[in-house]
This record gives sequence, structure tokens and C-alpha cells, in this order.
Amino acid sequence: MTRLRTAILISGRGSNMDALIAAARAPDFPAEIVLVLSNRADAPGLAKAKAAGVAVAAVDHKIYAGREEFERSLQLVLETHRIDFICLAGFMRLFTPWFINQWRGRMLNIHPALLPSYRGLHTHERALADGVKIHGCTAHFVVPEMDEGPIVAQAAVPVLDGDTPETLGARVLSQEHVIYPLALRLAASGAVRIEGNRVLGALPACDDRLIAPSATPF
Ligand code: GRF
Repeated sequence: MTRLRTAILISGRGSNMDALIAAARAPDFPAEIVLVLSNRADAPGLAKAKAAGVAVAAVDHKIYAGREEFERSLQLVLETHRIDFICLAGFMRLFTPWFINQWRGRMLNIHPALLPSYRGLHTHERALADGVKIHGCTAHFVVPEMDEGPIVAQAAVPVLDGDTPETLGARVLSQEHVIYPLALRLAASGAVRIEGNRVLGALPACDDRLIAPSATPF
């Protein structure tokens, strides 16, 4: 089995990164995590990746004149490591279409909401303010439009009466750690194909791994 050489791009703590690294340890996992790359040299996730034995690199976006110069540096690092596939995991920079087009169909993102609801930031605060009863997370291919792109996997969680953004966020995050490795497995194994905005061949949405266990009906 050829395992796709995968880079994880982070800006912060890297809990999704941890989940991906752990999943990719399985011998039958179709992707190998060979690089963790950050735009911040002080991202806590970098130290964790190093401790897990994964190569790390930092490219500081602040030293570049513009977005594209920064991305050309990223691209060079990715090419040097012969990267086939990218997972964005809390990478807090927007990309130009130039970069995204290099990686079209080969770059996934995890978003803390059930897209297309709640694109952008502060998703848990907004979900609580709207009074929704179901919230969740989405793993999707990256396209030039922010928080859009073919959806590979989603998980739903209930919103409970006493929730704060923190408790709801923690419930969502635990599901991110389930669906992101699953989405990478599906995408890297070639089990799914993209047709327009749809990912076909993915697990049915009723697969119980994609619905968070809940004591409360929702
Ligand atoms: C997650 O909530 C993810 O959905 C969002 O950024 C956060 C990253 O968290 N894109 P972590 O660094 O993976 O812990």
C-alpha cells in the first residue's frame, strides 16, 4: 500500500493534529504524517509533534511582504518534504487561490460547525445565541471560498441547556477528533470521489460513528 505523505498545518495547540498522528500509526492507514508545519514557531502543537517523532517546520507569515510570498515559502517546504496531501488543523491564515489550486482535491480542513451553517469564527457562541439544538463539525476539501468545499464527513452533537461556548466547544472538539481521521482515511484511500460539490462514496450519514452519543434526544 502506498501511503500518502501528509503534512498537517497548524497555528495553535494541535489537538486535531494529535488525533491524526495517532490514527496514522495504524499500519493500514492510507496516509503517513511526515510533517507538521506552522506559521508560528511558538505553536504548542509543534513541540507535541516533535515529541511524537514527526518532522516540524515553521514559516513565519509576518516576515513576508504579502500572502503569496508567504505561500511560495510554504510550497517550497512542502515540496522539499515531497508532500502529497495536506490537512489544515487550526491553521489561522487564509490562502490565495494560487495556493489552493496547487492542492485542489488534496487538502482537507476541519471546521467547528455543521457547514454551511456558521462559517467563520466564534461558531459555538453564535450557535448558542441562535438557540439551535444541534451543532457539530465538518471535515471538507478546501476550495478558494472560505469554509466551503465538498464535505467528506460531519458529526452532530446536541446543544444542552446549561451549555457555555466552552462546554459546547469541548463536545464538538471530541467529535472533530473522530471525523477528521475518518475523513483523511476516506480521502487518502481513494474510497471517495468529488463530483461538483459532493463527495460520493463516503460513509452514509447515519453511520453511528458520525453521530455523537447523547443522553438527550435532539
Ligand atoms: C478546531 O476547533 C478546528 O475545528 C478549527 O480550529 C480548531 C483547532 O484546534 N479549525 P486544535 O488546534 O486542533 O486543537
